[in-house]
Amino acid sequence: MSNAILLAPGPVQLHPEVQKILAEPMIHHRTPEFDLILARVLQNLKFLFQTKNPVFMHTSTGSGGMESALVNVLSRSDEILAIVSGKFGERWADMAETYGAKVHRLQVEWGKAVQVKDVDNLLKQNPKIKIVMTQACETSTGTMHPIEELGKLIATTSALFLVDGITAVGAFPMKMDEWHIDALVAGSQKAVMLPTGLSFVALSEKAWKIAETASTPRFYFDLRKELKANKNGETLFSSPVPLVKALDFILTRIQEIGLEKHFAQLRRRADFTRAMALKMCLSLYSEAPSDSVTAINLPASVDGVKLRAHLEKKYLVTVMGGQDQAKGKIIRIGHMGYILDEDLIAGMENFALALSDLGYEISAARIREESTAWLKAHEV
Ligand SMILES: Cc1ncc(COP(=O)(O)O)c(C=O)c1O
Repeated sequence: MSNAILLAPGPVQLHPEVQKILAEPMIHHRTPEFDLILARVLQNLKFLFQTKNPVFMHTSTGSGGMESALVNVLSRSDEILAIVSGKFGERWADMAETYGAKVHRLQVEWGKAVQVKDVDNLLKQNPKIKIVMTQACETSTGTMHPIEELGKLIATTSALFLVDGITAVGAFPMKMDEWHIDALVAGSQKAVMLPTGLSFVALSEKAWKIAETASTPRFYFDLRKELKANKNGETLFSSPVPLVKALDFILTRIQEIGLEKHFAQLRRRADFTRAMALKMCLSLYSEAPSDSVTAINLPASVDGVKLRAHLEKKYLVTVMGGQDQAKGKIIRIGHMGYILDEDLIAGMENFALALSDLGYEISAARIREESTAWLKAHEV
């Protein structure tokens, strides 16, 4: 077995039990055995989404979930306010335009959270806006947006609030019902701690009313049909059985641990990474850092593209670099998935070694010591 460490913001390291489940013999998805698992999973997903409404699974990547949320509530020529603060905000806005929406892009400087008052102003200036969409965490910058406050604002209008929670749901609180989120999306390879291949979507009652009559054509992602199938104890299409079985394990485990403690574990990894970055005399890229991924500014003398590749090739540690305007300037370390303290310590030490190889003055031995001491002092 490889001793490589995967600290990307998805896909993530898998729990050993998940690896075992994925290797089990195949069972058919139309069997009483699978029906029981499916029923439990659909119920437990509500707990993760903090909603009383149904949560749906698609066999797709997270982008499929974003498309599902969108096409189920969109009618051609609808006006949309898209908060664009990085790569994934851009993607959702592009997607909406592809489906014929008129998209107002609220461009937010990379690394900054959106200002609620800017959304408020735009909604007042453009009363025809039917949908506001944002990422909860913009993974390309490691930035969290103020979802609860935005939800409160948008709930006072007739617009729907669509949230891409792909690096949020399961990583930190995302209270769908309480925060007035009208469509929430998650993806399996992030905070749901599974391989890529499942996306999850839930709609509020306000969104369901629109979904009944929204004019965008939809087939694979038609949640009206999926709801009918789920009510009959089935999925509309074939289920990726091993993934759903592994999801059953993850959801049960999170429930056993308790959401609060589970979130505290992620926060600890995020706090650790932020603290160690400062000890390396590095700064954070984001002004509103997320607990699911930390973006660290690299020293001007270090080429981030080279550093990332070197860290992976020589030290077997995979992290992500920056994209577009942040390319070569940052690295992004993920905190989701099955991560042990020894992974955190080795990850940090190797990061320091790689920096040192590229000419940045730093003692990896000191970072190892500081990492070990920090983690000991901050047990959860
Ligand atoms: C916030 C966010 N949205 C969307 C996506 C796209 O997900 P996928 O690559 O699974 O389609 C990602 C993936 O990194 C993401 O982090």
